[in-house]
Amino acid sequence: MKKLLFTFSILALISCKKEEKKESLYPEKQLSAEEKQLQLGEEIFNGKGMCYSCHKPDQKVIGPSIKQIAEIYKAKNADIKLFLKEKSEPIVDPSQYSVMKTNFSITKTFSDEELKAVEAYFFSHLK
Ligand code: HEC
Repeated sequence: MKKLLFTFSILALISCKKEEKKESLYPEKQLSAEEKQLQLGEEIFNGKGMCYSCHKPDQKVIGPSIKQIAEIYKAKNADIKLFLKEKSEPIVDPSQYSVMKTNFSITKTFSDEELKAVEAYFFSHLK
């Protein structure tokens, strides 16, 4: 029993420490604007966008990999945001375009900020 109490008090101490840190003035704990954008992009990709069900980071599944898409869009200096608004033609795998097209009903509801975040998330796979 004593041991248990001891463990609890240690745990309590640790969690207090964490609380303190949150309020401390160390700026490195805060996310930069770029990191926040990538986080939003990832959230959409794995969440309401449901992009993960057809796209994986490094390997082709139903759709091309994120990396391949990013490489081609970078090489051609193309705009993923425009594609997701259905305002540009497919350049990665046009033969499978009809499969991707079904997602425009979702992607067209994204705000500009969300589209930018998704694009940034794709391009982050180039590093
Ligand atoms: C039902 C499966 C499926 C889902 C879900 C899906 N995609 Fe795709 N996607 C594809 C396929 C297949 C292609 C290849 C056809 C093409 O290039 O248009 C593709 C291609 C793409 C391309 C390259 C387009 C080009 O120029 O050829 C982008 C960018 C893309 N998807 C982004 C997304 C994003 C962002 C989401 C989530 C909002 C998403 N996809 C969800 C199947 C899917």
